[in-house]
Amino acid sequence: MTPKSRSKRTTQPPIDADPVQFTACFAYRGPSSGKQNLFCEGVALDRIAGSVGTPAYVYSRASIEAAYRALDRAFGSLPHTVCYAVKANSNLAVLRVLAELGSSFDIVSGGELDRLRRIGVPGNRIVFSGVGKTVEEIREALRYPGKGSRSSGILIFNVESGAELDLLVTESSRHVSAGGVRPNASLRVNPDVMAGGHPHISTGTREHKFGVSWGEARQLYLAHRDSRWLAWRGIGAHLGSQIFSLHPYRQALTRLASYVKDLALEGIQLDYVDIGGGLGIQYTVESPLVFARYARTLAQIVRPLGCRLLIEPGRALVGPAGVLLTRVLWLKQNHAKAFVIVDAAMNDLIRPVLYGATHAITPVVRNHTARAQTRRVDVVGPVCESADFLARNRPLPAVEPGDVLVVWTAGAYGFVQSSNYNARRRAAEVLVEGREFRVVRQRENYDDLVRGEQL
Ligand code: LLP
Repeated sequence: MTPKSRSKRTTQPPIDADPVQFTACFAYRGPSSGKQNLFCEGVALDRIAGSVGTPAYVYSRASIEAAYRALDRAFGSLPHTVCYAVKANSNLAVLRVLAELGSSFDIVSGGELDRLRRIGVPGNRIVFSGVGKTVEEIREALRYPGKGSRSSGILIFNVESGAELDLLVTESSRHVSAGGVRPNASLRVNPDVMAGGHPHISTGTREHKFGVSWGEARQLYLAHRDSRWLAWRGIGAHLGSQIFSLHPYRQALTRLASYVKDLALEGIQLDYVDIGGGLGIQYTVESPLVFARYARTLAQIVRPLGCRLLIEPGRALVGPAGVLLTRVLWLKQNHAKAFVIVDAAMNDLIRPVLYGATHAITPVVRNHTARAQTRRVDVVGPVCESADFLARNRPLPAVEPGDVLVVWTAGAYGFVQSSNYNARRRAAEVLVEGREFRVVRQRENYDDLVRGEQL
């Protein structure tokens, strides 16, 4: 094998290859001919499964840190702010890891704002996106504590419609009249650029509910040019998720740059250009954008504007850092089909059925003999739906009831999209830090499931 073809194989493993090849901070340890145990940093995952139970999400702090630092550094001297998209994984401990690294945050709800408040993130590190902000949410963001006692409010509201802008102005006029600080605002423009790995996670074309057209945005900027109630500070777009090409970023950012120049001619000087999130990650055979190339491309367009670049990555920071541990309950054969029934289900990880997503699955403890007996199976959960699968027709080494499996690359849009369907308790979440691990969210109990219900 030439070095070139070898490196190709490492970056693009087939579906049944080792995800450890493209996932930092997770590694099998043990002799290649004998039993190997999967570790997250310095902790064996079967130890976590034994002590915390399954299903359990496990996150590597070192992996999150490495991803954040690599992305942040890629922008070098360009004035930029990384605003982690909280929706990808909003566990308080995960948010704190990012806050300690100096990250800012992109939120889309009052609930996400509340999470940031609980860990003491100042308002000047928060951008508020979202297509359906409510009055209460806008009020909470206007009153959110800033840095220092005299400032308040968040860094910027990413406004998504004329109606929302009217609401922001109404609320802000009350807030400012009562002595509050005038909010910063930005419009999310729909750049009409196609990007994203699945129809459900593309957002940037005129077919989508997100943002406003440039024509409308321009009118709104001009109508509120001299507003006493808000200050135009930025413009933004978000194209979609699981993006692997620079082209849509270049196209959308070039459009935003032309709008910034147009507005400057009208006397509106913007300070921020927000290109949203969307950086794709490797689940199986995808080739993620190299951060340095991504950063260089964006910098070339933004630098001449003299604006600060905001980016809103979610998945790229936390996706590869997390796995879902699940235990095999039963093996079942129906006619020609083999099923591995596990204790995690679609309520724990909905990505396979919702987006046709492929998450690699391997045993936490593996050995040569079992690998030699690899066969195709459906990995399914206990929920009463045929949609309840984690993998279909997937090669898996021989497993037995009681074995623990690891579902890879589950740190983003995993736990946060879980539900209590079938009255199932949501999984525990665990954070690994070097040789230590701690439960950062308890597994729910039955009391949690009925809280708030009344007879
Ligand atoms: N900014 C905005 C305004 C967004 O709507 C999103 C994601 C992001 C940033 C972060 O995008 P990322 O860097 O994570 O791609 N549940 C789906 C993904 C939905 C993404 C929604 N918006 C999934 O599991 O694939």
